[in-house]
Amino acid sequence: MRWLAILALIPISAFAFQGKAPAQKPTFEKSVAPFIKKYCVSCHAGPYAPDGVDYSKIKSVADANKERALLNKGVKYINNKKMPPKTALQPKPAEVKAFSDWVAKGKD
Ligand code: HEC
Repeated sequence: MRWLAILALIPISAFAFQGKAPAQKPTFEKSVAPFIKKYCVSCHAGPYAPDGVDYSKIKSVADANKERALLNKGVKYINNKKMPPKTALQPKPAEVKAFSDWVAKGKD
């Protein structure tokens, strides 16, 4: 009987581990593309983007690496609570953290 109880626990713990591991590292697809789309691109897009800051052109990891200065500036404005404007949709702290972590060192 004890055997059965132990066997029954194995798949559960394996699943719990797998479920947790991938969430650790932010990726462009998960933490950057959706973030700027949801919180920045409604204003910062196209030829009339405020101050010429156009986040809509960042569509891939390659774009993001090319525009890293622009992303760094965005992180600074977000951390200083200057962006997004108070009247706009605000990102959650966890979303900001994943976004800024990726900008600081992400490459994929
Ligand atoms: C509701 C519209 C709106 C949204 C949404 C918005 N911004 Fe802005 N942003 C502005 C306006 C307008 C300015 C120019 C005036 C100012 O600096 O307040 C600006 C300026 C900036 C600047 C300064 C550029 C410069 O060189 O002076 C940065 C950087 C910036 N935004 C980043 C962001 C980021 C990153 C996001 C998303 C998290 C974002 N903004 C979301 C409207 C918006």
